[in-house]
Amino acid sequence: MLDNKKILLVISGGIAAYKTLELIRLLKKDNADVTCILTRAGEEFVTPLSVASLSGNKVYTDLFSLTDETEMGHINLSRQNDLIIVAPASADIMAKMTHGMANDLASTTLLASNKSIMVAPAMNPEMWDNPATQNNVKMLRERGIVFCGPEKGDMACGETGEGRMSEAQTIHQAVHDFFFERPLKGKKVLITSGPTYEPLDPVRFIGNRSSGKQGHAIAKSLLKAGAHVTMISGPTNMPDISGVDIQRIETAHEMLDTTLDALPADIVICAAAVSDWALTSPSAQKMKKKSDDDTPEIKLKQNPDILKTISQMTDNRPALVIGFAAETNDLEENAAAKRARKNCDWLLANQVGKDENGTQRGFGTDENEIYFVTQQEQTRWNNMSKDSVAQRLTDHIIRHFNNK
Ligand SMILES: Cc1cc2nc3c(=O)[nH]c(=O)nc-3n(C[C@H](O)[C@H](O)[C@H](O)COP(=O)(O)O)c2cc1C
Repeated sequence: MLDNKKILLVISGGIAAYKTLELIRLLKKDNADVTCILTRAGEEFVTPLSVASLSGNKVYTDLFSLTDETEMGHINLSRQNDLIIVAPASADIMAKMTHGMANDLASTTLLASNKSIMVAPAMNPEMWDNPATQNNVKMLRERGIVFCGPEKGDMACGETGEGRMSEAQTIHQAVHDFFFERPLKGKKVLITSGPTYEPLDPVRFIGNRSSGKQGHAIAKSLLKAGAHVTMISGPTNMPDISGVDIQRIETAHEMLDTTLDALPADIVICAAAVSDWALTSPSAQKMKKKSDDDTPEIKLKQNPDILKTISQMTDNRPALVIGFAAETNDLEENAAAKRARKNCDWLLANQVGKDENGTQRGFGTDENEIYFVTQQEQTRWNNMSKDSVAQRLTDHIIRHFNNK
């Protein structure tokens, strides 16, 4: 979260200015206080009204505003914020920054600033490649200006090349990187999450009550700690997480194949509730009752054990393999035995099913009661929110890699 962070956003004149509206929304959602300056050209692409509505703050456009300059507006704007972002950064505004020009509110504020500045350039590839722009970029980098992008791709002008402004989510992530240490930066994590559905026929399946909430919370927590997160998720109602690569599957076999394809990874967390069994031969057509007492027999075969398969890899085994085990009884004994049997490094056993009052535990709820087992340690984590379980697990992972 960006609580208490004050951000000054300078929007200059480029077609990518529309993406900046989404950036304002993401920063605000993260509790940042966002104030915006629109250049004269910027106003041609987005209106002060949209920017003010989204930011919830007054929008500044004019250097010679009598009302703002009675309080020395350009100096205050340059000092009152923790970070200044220029997005989109036009070729023109970067040239002004490089050469110390101060002929409008944006350039004057940038020149008067004693705060860190991040730029997200956006322009036609020829403009970006032009030696004039490249010299400016070099000088700005040398002065410590932080660059986010630009990226390669199709441009609004119809050309292709380097010059596309980074997406709002990428700039938002860069803002996080700027403010916070990211202890798991460079670590690649795979998380399996949610249930699997094993088809009986094209419309029916064997499933379970897993909601995917725990895997989702872990993905968010590890992403925040800087890890590169891929989540392989069974069918759930959980929304996509911006910044997490989510691959959706249905069956245990698909989950295994997708997980193996996504390797190598530093950390694998098997939080999915994978069905132990699948039908030997699911019906290709919808099964039909043939008579009033027709009760078809179904034959099951074992599904692959994803946690065990990864834990027992000999080549390129992930440095840390973590499993979840849903237990309805004898949590502690089952957890320790399961960890040893599967050969995973850590196991988080959680109590599922209904308690003595008939209340559902674990699956589908917002809380989890965990018994945490490693080769050296066995600890009960008292009932806590799934977000807290995710944070505690993330802290353990950070400590594990720091102590190596
Ligand atoms: C339709 C249109 C799109 C433009 N897109 C860009 C752009 O993506 N990047 C850029 O550097 N300049 C772009 N320009 C040119 C700038 O708007 C122009 O250089 C302007 O002076 C920039 O002013 P500012 O830096 O004060 O905002 C565009 C101009 C027009 C008319």
